[in-house]
Amino acid sequence: MVFEESVAAHYGRIDAEAQFLAMLRRDGKDPEHFAPADLHGADQLHIGGAAATSRLAGRAGLDSGTKVLDIGSGMGGVARHLAHEHGVHVHGVDLTPEFVTLARSLTQRTALNGSVTFSQGSALALPLDAKTFDAAVMVHVGMNIRDKDKVFAEAARVLRPGGVFAVYDIMVVGGETEEYPLPWADTGETSFVQPPLAYSDALTQAGFEVDLEAKTVQEGIDFLDHALTSVAAGTGGPMGVGAAALTNLRAAFQDGILAPVEIYAHLPG
Ligand SMILES: C[S@@+](CC[C@H](N)C(=O)[O-])C[C@H]1O[C@@H](n2cnc3c(N)ncnc32)[C@H](O)[C@@H]1O
Repeated sequence: MVFEESVAAHYGRIDAEAQFLAMLRRDGKDPEHFAPADLHGADQLHIGGAAATSRLAGRAGLDSGTKVLDIGSGMGGVARHLAHEHGVHVHGVDLTPEFVTLARSLTQRTALNGSVTFSQGSALALPLDAKTFDAAVMVHVGMNIRDKDKVFAEAARVLRPGGVFAVYDIMVVGGETEEYPLPWADTGETSFVQPPLAYSDALTQAGFEVDLEAKTVQEGIDFLDHALTSVAAGTGGPMGVGAAALTNLRAAFQDGILAPVEIYAHLPG
């Protein structure tokens, strides 16, 4: 619990709503009625932004009408993108109350509140009934969660038989220690990065069958270069993430210490 309080405090300090609304006004958009893409992916706190979310949807086979759980939904950018571009219904759960409030507010302004909902809660004790969802996604959340066994057991509990699970996290791929701050933690105390093998072992333990693993290092470096240029020019970048954290993450990718990794799994039917 003490970790969860620190994690929520880390993300809760990001005060993004006013910046989003200013960005929309600057672009000549109506802040009360806009499309998810009008936020230019600044509401998606992960490597690759909207393009990575679409790739995830394709690889996980998220067809129109699929009922999807977004574990660690942040500002709701992934959920809105999935609903708008792929026609799915999404429920997002996030630990950080400020993000849940912001996710709801932005979603209402994109008129997606019929297909996208949010609740506050922990991935380790999802406030949801068993066998409710066709699919689940978890994007850049596992780095803040020490107990991977528990989070994957919870995902397995709320998915229907045959349900698919797409996990996209920053994982450890080399031996050296990473430098802080990183985008998800200011110190190692709330960072629980692990190798892909630890993820696939925990997924198997929870009853999943692992289908595919994909590493996207160069995409990560290119994305961070673009984000660093935007931050330096004062024209954007992932909301609330500073240049020091982006620089340290870029170095960890470049040095082969960390990498963005996607893992796709499913429950037996
Ligand atoms: C880097 S952000 C990613 C947000 C979103 N998935 C995205 O890609 O835009 C990590 C999110 O995970 C949430 N989180 C961290 N630990 C969590 C937990 N135990 N349960 C639920 N959410 C958690 C944080 O509050 C934060 O919103």
